[in-house]
Amino acid sequence: MVIVKSIDELLEATSTFKGSVGFVPTMGALHEGHLSLIKKARKENDFVVVSIFVNPTQFLEGEDLEAYPRKEEADVKICELAGVDVLFMPTVDMMYEKDELSITAPAIRGFILEGTKRAGHFDGMLQIVMKLLNLIAYNKPSTFRAYFGKKDAQQLVLITQMVKNYFINVDIVPCDIVRDKDGLALSSRNVYLSKEDRVRALSLSRSLKRATELVMQKEFNSSIIIAEMKKVLSKVEVEYVALVNREFEQIDRVELSNTIILVAARVGTTRLIDNLWI
Ligand code: PAJ
Repeated sequence: MVIVKSIDELLEATSTFKGSVGFVPTMGALHEGHLSLIKKARKENDFVVVSIFVNPTQFLEGEDLEAYPRKEEADVKICELAGVDVLFMPTVDMMYEKDELSITAPAIRGFILEGTKRAGHFDGMLQIVMKLLNLIAYNKPSTFRAYFGKKDAQQLVLITQMVKNYFINVDIVPCDIVRDKDGLALSSRNVYLSKEDRVRALSLSRSLKRATELVMQKEFNSSIIIAEMKKVLSKVEVEYVALVNREFEQIDRVELSNTIILVAARVGTTRLIDNLWI
């Protein structure tokens, strides 16, 4: 594995690739969720590039940019063991200049749910993903696939739209959510949870399990599903529970194979999200 810390080095390293390229962008503090994306990319491509970059433009005032977990040494080992070819770890100065163009998330899909709760977050996220995709596409790989987790459902849908709207030559590959044995969706932010909060946090995945039961009993009414989920979520501070279709439009009834049920909640000081694709 080569570790590259500048854009020139990245372009040089990827210029030797002959074959398909799988790319996994991350903000580091890698866990099994990230690893599942890397493994999938490894299986499906001749070459694998991973990036680790804690992107400042997607953090809002007062969010955890400074405190965001950084585990460079462990991350390098994980990538090495997973068979990554190139690990890209740029600095903020390399990725941004002072007076930049910006990308704005779409007015409807980009400004509901996470878009309301974290206004501006998606603009910064799309901006960095656009930059990273362009850098990997620079040497024109024969096939270029980029891997994103369904855990961040709205992010995935918006990236898919950006790629379509800006004609970026990449296949976006959605990847399943990886969970701990007890159901908690893995997240770099889970390290913030105290023992008690970790237990309370389980209500997010439990509420989604409750939604599955209801759907299996042919209860398709969104309001009823949301009300039932909220009962399971009584011990955490719910930010939203919502049902949307794969286009991220809110729906009144479950449409099988086209629905995402989402939940966001604060558990202590930690904000968690989870979802279910049905
Ligand atoms: P980060 O939170 O590090 O996540 C990197 C990728 O891992 C994302 O595609 C995310 O959806 C996926 N992921 C995280 N937890 C997962 C889990 N439990 N199961 C499956 N996949 C999971 O998302 C970002 O970074 C950033 O916004 C980024 C896209 C890198 C842009 O800065």
